Amino acid sequence: MTELLLASNNEHKRREFTRLFPGVRILEPRDVGVSFDFPEDGQTFFANAHGKAAELQRLAGRPVIADDSGLCVDALGGEPGIYSARYGSAQGAPVLDAPTRNRFLLERMNGITERAAHFVCCLVLLLGRDRFLVTQETVEGTITHEPRGLNGFGYDPLFLLPALGLTMAEIPDADKDRLSHRGRAARSMRGLLAAEEDLG
Ligand code: IMP
Repeated sequence: MTELLLASNNEHKRREFTRLFPGVRILEPRDVGVSFDFPEDGQTFFANAHGKAAELQRLAGRPVIADDSGLCVDALGGEPGIYSARYGSAQGAPVLDAPTRNRFLLERMNGITERAAHFVCCLVLLLGRDRFLVTQETVEGTITHEPRGLNGFGYDPLFLLPALGLTMAEIPDADKDRLSHRGRAARSMRGLLAAEEDLG
């Protein structure tokens, strides 16, 4: 597979996918002249990822990969979870920018000492009609008391990798790719794809 259409308009995700699938050209909907905005109303990461992929495949008629991901905080009962992108904004209102959303999360965690959390990434690769591959991975960490670091995107400045003592926004791209939920899910997906291509 030399080209994959990514069911996302998120430039950060596109950059990560370009690194995570070497040798594959990652296209965004606008690259193939499609306007894509999918309402993420599923109850699981998988439902949202599959929904996004299926809708874009219907519009574009070619293989599609979709990512649905988010941050789950133990002390908040798994919040923001599948609502990670919309966290802190009223229903129907525009989503908050990442620094504002991060402040909102830190305020919710004010006084909470138990700060364990994990990121989740579900990838669905739709190969053709009724044919898809799926991988879902996590990375464990804790939530800092202040944002730290300038790399990455979204909740990265709040997500501490305890073994390194650094947030996901303080490590180089190559380390994020090796350790992150998306990096792990993409590695598994590359394995599945290679096996699928071997079968012909
Ligand atoms: P969605 O998958 O487009 O619904 O968006 C998931 C949201 O979760 C993003 O907008 C980010 O805020 C957050 N998120 C997902 N993956 C990451 C990551 O690798 N780093 C930081 N935040 C992430």
